[in-house]
Amino acid sequence: MTPSLCRRPLSSTGAPGAGPNFFAVEYDPETHAVWMLDQRRLPSDVLYHRYAEPDEVADSIREMVVRGAPAIGIAAAYALVLVARKEQGDASSFLLSNGAASRVLLGTRPTAVNLAWAIARMSKKAAEVAALSPAERYAGMRKEAEAIHIEDVQACRAMGRLGAEDIPSGATILTHCNAGALATGGYGTALGVIRAAHEMGKRIRVLADETRPYLQGARLTSWELHQDEIPVEVITDNMAAHFFQREEIEFVVVGSDRIAANGDVANKIGTYGVALLAEAHDVPFTVAAPWSTVDLQTQTGMQIPIEERGRDEISTLGGATLVADGIACRHPAFDVTPARLVRAIYTERGRIRPHCGETPEALMGSTGNVEREPSSARG
Ligand code: MRU
Repeated sequence: MTPSLCRRPLSSTGAPGAGPNFFAVEYDPETHAVWMLDQRRLPSDVLYHRYAEPDEVADSIREMVVRGAPAIGIAAAYALVLVARKEQGDASSFLLSNGAASRVLLGTRPTAVNLAWAIARMSKKAAEVAALSPAERYAGMRKEAEAIHIEDVQACRAMGRLGAEDIPSGATILTHCNAGALATGGYGTALGVIRAAHEMGKRIRVLADETRPYLQGARLTSWELHQDEIPVEVITDNMAAHFFQREEIEFVVVGSDRIAANGDVANKIGTYGVALLAEAHDVPFTVAAPWSTVDLQTQTGMQIPIEERGRDEISTLGGATLVADGIACRHPAFDVTPARLVRAIYTERGRIRPHCGETPEALMGSTGNVEREPSSARG
């Protein structure tokens, strides 16, 4: 894969991206390409790649150029727009190409259900437009992918407002991994809650777990929050217990890669430990995620597939060897927090309280009017 590199994107789709300074992923209709900020290089370099081939987008998801559950779903949707632009054959040829690319994309990362959700939504659209002309098919697929992107930002803003209501002014908030604008279409889920609290004028301070081994907290979360002038301090993962004990943490909010029907939550490895600490210190542990993260087909968290990543991400750091050759490492990239530890899940449809036995099904009929949901994570 030899993508183009540039310091700034050439143009933008106009999707309501991250903020004034950056975006994780966008489709550029002028160059017919997907632009991505290389999150492996942050914060040292702010570099965008231009991908014109669907396989390049799949590689970029696998290699974590783009990461975060909603963002990889959006990237996959745009990859299928690239397929639609290239495929000039008849309906069955278009559907075959869409199906083949979908299978490759699906195999890139297994835990975040947003990936499968976005691919399923794009495949439904592909079936609807298959009989149209190639130009009309492309237009239909592009419109759907951009809708997925725009709706994700709207969902982040809605759950952000909802979660922010539960944050007391003056609070110190712990977050784990990066569930920010970089991990979504823009604004962020957990960081959306934090951004909304900041925008409401609440005085808040953030402790960002560094998030071993990939360091999303140290490299990405602090970078994002610092740009918004939200006070943030980075701690190593093994310091969290100390700050709970000293009563320096009043609220925890994280994102999620998949929420099971019973309210169990999969998120970045280390999240379960944070939830146990929060419970032990009677601090609300909360989750912010769009409805596309809810997987009602998966009954409990124990059925969620956990991605195992390579040894190198553990055994090396910045090129230096940490674990001697020949010694094995284990690397589950996610863990599952049981519903009983989760005080609230904020979605664009409203709030649920898994620790009281409420399940996502409670929001099945919701219109998404989050203003109507009054219950609090603190209650
Ligand atoms: O391996 P990553 O960096 O893709 O893991 C990301 C997370 O675990 C996020 O917390 C989750 O995807 C939610 S992002 C809004």
